[in-house]
Amino acid sequence: MSEPSPISTPRSPHFWEERYQTGSTRWDLGQPAPPFVQLLQSADAPPPGRMAVLGSGKGHDALWFAKHGFEVVGFDFAPSAIAQSTALAEAQEISAQFLQRDIFELPHEFANQFDYVLEHTCFCAIPLELRSAYVHLVRDLLRPHGELIALFWLHDRPDGPPFGGRVDEIHQRFSPDFEILSLKNVTDSVANRQNEEYLGRLRVKKT
Ligand SMILES: C[S@@+](CC[C@H](N)C(=O)[O-])C[C@H]1O[C@@H](n2cnc3c(N)ncnc32)[C@H](O)[C@@H]1O
Repeated sequence: MSEPSPISTPRSPHFWEERYQTGSTRWDLGQPAPPFVQLLQSADAPPPGRMAVLGSGKGHDALWFAKHGFEVVGFDFAPSAIAQSTALAEAQEISAQFLQRDIFELPHEFANQFDYVLEHTCFCAIPLELRSAYVHLVRDLLRPHGELIALFWLHDRPDGPPFGGRVDEIHQRFSPDFEILSLKNVTDSVANRQNEEYLGRLRVKKT
């Protein structure tokens, strides 16, 4: 059987790069996700620390946390995402780093280096067969007691990206390596994600 074209599989950076180059970035909110805005303004706001942002896209979420004192490194394998987020950081005069990497390679270079990992429409962007590897890579990037802060987009529509998921799947996949501190449906999603987004805070079980 022949291999799929790199532009047709979301496992490939070409798939995503083509979307950036043609302006087909419908996932991009043009601003940080409202639940992250709310989180950092709440009494439960996590204290600043070193944070990895996976599949950081145009960088809005990464820059929101950087603006609030987090030492942020955004990772994305699409060159245009890195160029655009770096340019936005410069324009907004916010200190954050954006590196072109495949997130599945990060543990070789960044194991145990982060207090936080931030997730927003990256889990739903990767093919389903990579979800276990995703959980392991988040675990490996975090320092002991580090936290995954995740806005999961969970829906039951077929195909993707965005690929669907369920709350019980998140529990099942993450529970072996993470204590699920909270995983709650949010009320301030953008229109096409209403009732489908869950804000999770998951602490890694690592000593
Ligand atoms: C749906 S977009 C979300 C971007 C951003 N998080 C947001 O919410 O605007 C998914 C992003 O993940 C990146 N991505 C997907 N798989 C990746 C991988 N294996 N390594 C690095 N980046 C990846 C894509 O290039 C794309 O920028």
